[in-house]
Amino acid sequence: MSAYSQQTPTLLNHHLLPMIPFALKRPALRLLLLVSLAVLTAIAGSQWSPAQSQTAAPTYAQDIAPILNSSCIECHYPGGIGPFSLRTYTDAKNNADKVAGATADRFMPPWRAQAGWGEFQNERRLSETEIAKIQAWAAAGAPAGNLSQLAPPPPIPASNWRLGQPDQVFTMPQAFDVPDQGDDIYRYFVLDGALLEDKTVVAIDFQPGAKAVVHHANFFVDYEGRGRKLAAADPLPGFSTRETGGFMDYGGASAIGGWAPGVDPYQLPPGIGGYLRQGGDIVIEIHYHLNGEAQRDRSRLGFYYAKAPVEKYIEGLIIGTQDLDIPAGETDYWRHFGMDVPADMELVDISPHMHYVGKEMQAIATLPNGTQKPLICIPDWDLDWQNTFVYRQPVPIPAGSRIDAWFRYDNSAANPANPNKPPVNVQWGWQSTDEMSEIYLGIVPENWRDGPKILEASQASWWQWATPEQIPAPCG
Ligand code: HEC
Repeated sequence: MSAYSQQTPTLLNHHLLPMIPFALKRPALRLLLLVSLAVLTAIAGSQWSPAQSQTAAPTYAQDIAPILNSSCIECHYPGGIGPFSLRTYTDAKNNADKVAGATADRFMPPWRAQAGWGEFQNERRLSETEIAKIQAWAAAGAPAGNLSQLAPPPPIPASNWRLGQPDQVFTMPQAFDVPDQGDDIYRYFVLDGALLEDKTVVAIDFQPGAKAVVHHANFFVDYEGRGRKLAAADPLPGFSTRETGGFMDYGGASAIGGWAPGVDPYQLPPGIGGYLRQGGDIVIEIHYHLNGEAQRDRSRLGFYYAKAPVEKYIEGLIIGTQDLDIPAGETDYWRHFGMDVPADMELVDISPHMHYVGKEMQAIATLPNGTQKPLICIPDWDLDWQNTFVYRQPVPIPAGSRIDAWFRYDNSAANPANPNKPPVNVQWGWQSTDEMSEIYLGIVPENWRDGPKILEASQASWWQWATPEQIPAPCG
């Protein structure tokens, strides 16, 4: 273990993740079946009617460029967060098989929530028709079609700040040297520029400095100066909290968001803001995943402030359970927890959270009249693509409703994300190889006076025995 890594590394296995799912996930198998059926039909068809085999395959110019331009190149451009560009025909042709694999499996574009379970901002999903076109195009050898008629792709974004220049940018005070080799590093940095005034934030975005090794980041406002003290006592830039197991486990800091490659900037709906009290420090936690080349990182966090008074302030709730004890080898370990909603509120965003052996989750609100509102479902949990899912319209949840959540864990060797080979018993804990079972909810109370009551109700969720009864049907 290197001096400042705090969590057991899971990098090797983790690294393989993007490749393994193609072979294992159900949709891929289904598609394979479809493709073989199509081939069979084509063969059968060609015996009976030779015209069948002449059906033109989709071309890049006519069919594929529009899909890549609208759904992929926002990340896949030179210098973008995607591992290669998809802006030109050559780019697309050179990666045709990978593109076909990643889209068939719905690994790309990255969006892990199930359609029909909540309507979210920036939802990205290809239609079955688009996926089938890409398949047929790749299978036909990625034909170009008439490139002369192709409109140029949209321009490369001028700034990596996807919402434009932030009102305030907080930069790491010093660069942090990330070695070429070793275990993953979890490091915390107190950023320049304490929050000197009260501020209303409406959006947050993050710019990794050393993109190749910044694996994810979490942001906090520290109102008690704990981070400042820890950083002062540490000879290297920032600090690590190996001793305490994380920065979140104390009450003096509020978590205000996070970032992972591909995650959208956190943007609140119109009229809603997040209130930051004067005197806080911004602390970011960065997880570095070493890649064989030494790097210097100086990441930045951008805040966008309200330009007009907001009507509503968002509040954060965490519901969940620490009652987790997942036997090695167990494939179907379920937890069920919930919250009784004591006052009218609106649900603005939702972020389910598990670690590596987490497999699927869903959450439903049952209203007092019995109506069930699906809030979110993630049928194939993927730690790499966690997101804060912001609803297109905040979801009204009246007093007397109940929010229920079900989480499943697969702690068997068959789960490619399992960091332990062979599997070991896994319990609740702060390390990434421990597990969690929780949901962060961004809410606005209908009447601000009800805020504390709602907070209390969410805390009560942690004291209920988490039972696996009434396991719901899978959503995906
Ligand atoms: C929001 C950003 C984003 C969008 C949109 C996006 N990608 Fe990606 N893509 C990424 C990132 C980041 C990776 C690297 C993921 C990793 O290694 O875990 C990636 C990886 C890939 C890979 C490599 C997968 C592998 O084998 O490891 C392919 C292929 C791909 N993307 C194709 C696409 C296609 C096709 C689209 C559009 C239909 C698309 N991507 C949309 C960010 C994006």
